[in-house]
Amino acid sequence: MIDRRNLLTATGATFLAGLAAHQAGAFETSARQAFDTAIGQVDHFSLQALNGGISITNWREGLDYVFSNLDPSDVRNAIEFDRLLNSAGIAERGVATAPVHLQLENGERLAFFPKFFTVGRGRAIIPHGHSNMISAHLTLQGRFHLRQYDRIGIEDDALLIRPTIDEVVTAGTLASIGDPDDNIHWFIAEEQACTLDIILTNLDASASSAFDIFNIDPMEAAALGQDIWRAPRLSVADGLAKYG
Ligand SMILES: [Fe+2]
Repeated sequence: MIDRRNLLTATGATFLAGLAAHQAGAFETSARQAFDTAIGQVDHFSLQALNGGISITNWREGLDYVFSNLDPSDVRNAIEFDRLLNSAGIAERGVATAPVHLQLENGERLAFFPKFFTVGRGRAIIPHGHSNMISAHLTLQGRFHLRQYDRIGIEDDALLIRPTIDEVVTAGTLASIGDPDDNIHWFIAEEQACTLDIILTNLDASASSAFDIFNIDPMEAAALGQDIWRAPRLSVADGLAKYG
């Protein structure tokens, strides 16, 4: 004979389990929707920046706004963080990377290039500046000591730099560069850390190259006055050996 009380309890448990699963599914759907919407907004700002419709400062502000409304765990889920981490691995020096395959909700390709970075504890995204490109690193896991500098000038064997940012960043923090504001960045992983990088190149389609990267040696920088420093340029190998 079925015990009515036990039947109700069992039925109730089943109902509650079903409701929880439904709510979890709804949450996952809304989190994914929020991520897709954010990617659409980043793409919109990126197209505008490429077309000259908005300034680079506006692009940075737009991305700050978009990612301030996203939970980093939702970003990790959406980009399949564990798979990317396995795919990239951890480099002995410097960074390891993996491509992130995203597209717009309408299936069109993105105006920007998303890339996944892993950095082992004590390793670094070595100090470097850029030309004809901007980027924004969203920390997804771990902790970095981040330093950034304005790019005041580019010489054959050095960059003229001015320190602007010196702080610790953790999951959910977006750290973007401008051109020339905050253009040089240097991330030291205080623990194993990962970022999603939003990269926009070829800002000036008439420039001689789509983008350039200049590794520098800030520890050997010479003071020029007014907090401007002349930092020697380094090859990739020398930059990795000293800072990676
Ligand atoms: Fe960079």
